[in-house]
Amino acid sequence: MSANTAPHRKRTAVLISGRGSNMVSLIKAAASKSFPAEIALVLSNRPDAQGLVTAKDAGIATAAIDHKLYPDRESFERALQALLVEHNIELICLAGFMRVLTAWFVGQWSGRLINIHPALLPSYRGLHTHDRALADGVKIHGCTVHFVVPAMDEGPIIAQAAVAVRDDDTSATLGARVLEQEHVIYPMALGIVAAGQFSTEGNRVALTTQWQAPQALVAPAVKS
Ligand code: GRF
Repeated sequence: MSANTAPHRKRTAVLISGRGSNMVSLIKAAASKSFPAEIALVLSNRPDAQGLVTAKDAGIATAAIDHKLYPDRESFERALQALLVEHNIELICLAGFMRVLTAWFVGQWSGRLINIHPALLPSYRGLHTHDRALADGVKIHGCTVHFVVPAMDEGPIIAQAAVAVRDDDTSATLGARVLEQEHVIYPMALGIVAAGQFSTEGNRVALTTQWQAPQALVAPAVKS
């Protein structure tokens, strides 16, 4: 590599189904040339996803593959796969992508497919995480970025952020504070994965770069 060759940035696809606020956080981070990933494609299974419009406006290549036009999950995923290969994609970020992926597809992308989940896994896998956390009365809730494995919302955890649950929280207010943290940890996790700054042992992902532990979050934070 000559001195003026820019380091390779991993060609990343973001898969969405809806508004795409996490996608926006990834696009913003990747706008910096020093970020180790570039967002090369935004792909939706819903042609009417708001995120597609946002991505197009940001100058990113977009595509929609409507799952309803395919007889089964596998043929839908084969179409996805063909498009990802055509765009020379190296990493995939799921960002509110509301389709369960088969073991076949996940196997094609093992170690190169990450997801963001709005809860502190392994608690609250699945849907309606904020409602369920409130109903259980937990004091700390949050979000997780993890590698995708065939079992839903499982797989080695790359990063998590916790928020304190307030006494007057509703699903909407709690969800909004969690979402803010999603927008922090997803770009961070993508940066770590794209730069290869980690090692994995079983379910444990360790950073191979310097990191600083934030202070512990304790909730409630009682006034002294
Ligand atoms: C986020 O809460 C994410 O954690 C979950 O789906 C939601 C997507 O929101 N997987 P957005 O489309 O990124 O705004």
